[in-house]
Amino acid sequence: ASSSDPYDVVVIGGGPGGYVAAIKAAQLGLKTACIEKRGSLGGTCLNVGCIPSKAMLNNSHIYHQTQHDLKRRGIDVSGVSLNLPTMLKAKEDAVTGLTKGIEYLFKANKVDYIKGSGSFVSPTRIGVQLLDGGETEVEAKNIIIATGSEVAPFPGGAIQIDEKQIVSSTGALDLQEVPKKMVVIGGGVIGLELGSVWSRLGAEVTVVEFLGAIGGVGIDEEVAKQFQKILSKQGIKFKLNTKVLSADKEDGKVIIKTESAKGGKEETLDADVVLVSVGRRPYTEGLNIEAAGVELDNRGRVIIDDQFNTSAKHIKCIGDVTFGPMLAHKAEEEGIAAVEYVKHGHGHVNYAAIPSVVYTHPEVAWVGKTEQELKADGVKYVIGKFPFTANSRAKTNLDMEGFVKFITEKETDKILGVHIIGPNAGEMISEAVLAIEYGASSEDIARTTHAHPTLSEAFKEAAMAASSKPIHM
Ligand code: FAD
Ligand code: NAI
Repeated sequence: ASSSDPYDVVVIGGGPGGYVAAIKAAQLGLKTACIEKRGSLGGTCLNVGCIPSKAMLNNSHIYHQTQHDLKRRGIDVSGVSLNLPTMLKAKEDAVTGLTKGIEYLFKANKVDYIKGSGSFVSPTRIGVQLLDGGETEVEAKNIIIATGSEVAPFPGGAIQIDEKQIVSSTGALDLQEVPKKMVVIGGGVIGLELGSVWSRLGAEVTVVEFLGAIGGVGIDEEVAKQFQKILSKQGIKFKLNTKVLSADKEDGKVIIKTESAKGGKEETLDADVVLVSVGRRPYTEGLNIEAAGVELDNRGRVIIDDQFNTSAKHIKCIGDVTFGPMLAHKAEEEGIAAVEYVKHGHGHVNYAAIPSVVYTHPEVAWVGKTEQELKADGVKYVIGKFPFTANSRAKTNLDMEGFVKFITEKETDKILGVHIIGPNAGEMISEAVLAIEYGASSEDIARTTHAHPTLSEAFKEAAMAASSKPIHM
């Protein structure tokens, strides 16, 4: 192909959905370009999401553990202090290393990286405002929209984010001082992960949540209750069933007004920093999507069919900007499947087997159905549970909070859902994902050898509890 030929595939957006799609397309021999306007690849996830938050979660956990947990392990330390600039720098180094790594992968796979903001000129042509000035246009036989999501503003404009005192997740990953008091609006995934970070580093954190439970969409109710108990013990305060009405800056503080979710009782809180984490929304600004004939639903999501096709021919869409959970691994799977559709006419994502993980300590992870969902659907099920207090490795590690919970179909023993709260739950959940992918029963897991002593024996014993009886309880 000559350089003036149209691209086989142009991907708009270089996040986990877009960059994976671009690499996969090039690997399949398609002439591919990826347009990204941020100035670095990796999207929300690598730049201001998954990666920097996990760097801060890991290092704040080590700091907190060093201060509060080493003594009982027979390790005496003194003079422990926080060097926040160094911790922030470690986070930045992780981000830079990984985003540059994707640039390298683009080169290695011969993906053209176009640095600029893409905007449809027609259903097959995209104009690009280049980051270093000037414009260009590209022609494509196939286009994949992967423009991701952005922070949802507080409804009605009642709270203005300045990313210093009233912050979104982006500002909360870059505070230059530990706030004395922090109020988190929204007890979903971002609120709990970043609330944990600043609580461990010394802030007094209060989470205000509209619903009666924490953890966001899809969490099992029993897990959510245990999760709240554990985080409360760590010092985070919760105000559930409470709606935030406003947050205003006054004399260096932020004054937050709340009322009970059922109406009535009003209360005022004050904080040095407020984190607004009430969700994210799809992002299509500046894309001139109308020129392509691509339709959005009433929540701003790009409408697609089950093969990632938008309402315009040869334009597909994946990731946060369309339906489904806003998760990096979901975007990546869709990126690969969408490209396989382009190349081969078939591809697949199993939406029943997408794990969710909250990277607090302990971690919370799940895949498949919750008890509430099964009850609502009238499905007959069996529960098998095993606590980490009865797991030998958790005991040796002095890290015993939480449990593994299997939910299986009563008649067939097929695994319908697995919910874990406990050490390393985020790694352990992969076994449950694989089991669901392969249509396993809990007896299949119960009869599979798990190395001793490992935390994953708790996983096996929960499967035993669902299919017969556990040994160690
Ligand atoms: P994005 O990552 O949002 O990427 C879209 C890209 O498109 C952006 O870089 C944007 O600049 C670019 N773009 C948009 N419009 C244009 C245009 N017109 N021209 C050119 N470029 C454009 N998910 C997990 O699975 N695990 C986690 O631990 C996790 N932690 C998170 C922590 C935080 C604080 C946040 C905010 C999110 C987290 N997420 C996590 C969610 C995850 O970041 C997203 O699900 C994921 O990034 C979605 O990928 P995407 O490719 O669809 O979109
Ligand atoms: P979220 O949807 O998880 O949680 C928002 C919470 O705010 C909900 O519990 C909601 O009830 C509450 N809320 C809404 N309005 C409120 C109000 N006025 N007052 C009080 N509470 C209110 O959204 P969040 O935490 O902002 O995260 C966005 C998305 O980013 C997540 O849904 C997830 O897809 C992704 N993410 C994933 C992570 C992971 O996989 N570990 C980590 C961080 C983000």
